[in-house]
Amino acid sequence: MSTIETVLVTGGAGFIGSNLVDRLLADGKRVVVVDDLSTGKLTNLKQARESSTGEVEFQRLDLTSGALDTVVERHRPEVIIHLAAQMNVRASVEDPLYDATVNVLGTIRVLEAARQYDVQKVVFATSGGCIYGEPALEDLPVPETAPGVAHSPYGASKRCGEEYLRMYAALYDLRWTSLALSNVYGPRQDPAGEAGVVAIFTERMLAGLPCTIYGDGEQSRDFVFVDDVVHAFVLAMDRGDDERFNIGTSERTSVNQLFRGLAAATGYDREPVYAPERAGELRHNAVDARKAAQGLGWKPWTTLEEGLAATLKWASGERDAG
Ligand SMILES: NC(=O)c1ccc[n+]([C@@H]2O[C@H](COP(=O)([O-])OP(=O)(O)OC[C@H]3O[C@@H](n4cnc5c(N)ncnc54)[C@H](O)[C@@H]3O)[C@@H](O)[C@H]2O)c1
Repeated sequence: MSTIETVLVTGGAGFIGSNLVDRLLADGKRVVVVDDLSTGKLTNLKQARESSTGEVEFQRLDLTSGALDTVVERHRPEVIIHLAAQMNVRASVEDPLYDATVNVLGTIRVLEAARQYDVQKVVFATSGGCIYGEPALEDLPVPETAPGVAHSPYGASKRCGEEYLRMYAALYDLRWTSLALSNVYGPRQDPAGEAGVVAIFTERMLAGLPCTIYGDGEQSRDFVFVDDVVHAFVLAMDRGDDERFNIGTSERTSVNQLFRGLAAATGYDREPVYAPERAGELRHNAVDARKAAQGLGWKPWTTLEEGLAATLKWASGERDAG
């Protein structure tokens, strides 16, 4: 049983963050959410504000501004879960300085606040799709030990953030865990964001609009359901110190397969529109999550079919409400 009482979640108004906040509150924690609402939304915290089991406080602030120190000093969380990030790969190529400002300097701000105010542990979100470069098909699913070179400023800034975690652990005894997530999907993923093919297809199919597939659709990804990812963050609060763990299903699903699965579930009867492949996109990816089973006691347990059904149910409810 965890003794942690107060958790600060950066990026807690975002897709993964707000799902995590709901889970922490259900577990009876005090949760401090820090977010600048650049891509996150206050409506994502609606359920959190109505929680009867935990307590939540929201602080709108930009991590890079230095204002985090005061919040950490006031609330004294035992753990910070650091999810706030610039996570658009193409935007990172167009503006690497902004990407590094949020993802590197923002992470240093988190570590500095943690060091000054005796936070015990920082749990970090990194990207299983972007830190290992482009592994050969025969090397998939990719393990944590894969060498790899980042192919985008986003991948580089995430690798750099993790280097800072290692360095703070060595210098200041600050504990850390880094979770390298594959392609996360589920309720509250923003269809306007660039990574969320599940969210984009779901929204367009429900509206009866055409769906575009870039390339031949045989490119594949490791789709992991958000509740499973949230569970990994909860476990990592007091397990798996000073290590990186891949979090994914280790299975590859092609975009064509995903399209067909969602079309069947929504009753969508249009064919996809094929458009030229987008430069810089990985052809195939999947992460090997066996280490997380050993070190965190984590396994994905939502099948793609169940996860898509839950996402669809949520998206239909949003359409009805809006
Ligand atoms: N969604 C995925 O498939 C995926 C895959 C791998 C890694 N990740 C990582 O998981 C984390 C969460 O991703 P997500 O999908 O929930 O994205 P998201 O965009 O929904 O969440 C990020 C949150 O951070 C906030 N934020 C951004 N810059 C900020 C700043 N300067 N100060 C304060 N808040 C700021 C945003 O407003 C948003 O609420 C990110 O670190 C991302 O890199 C996500």
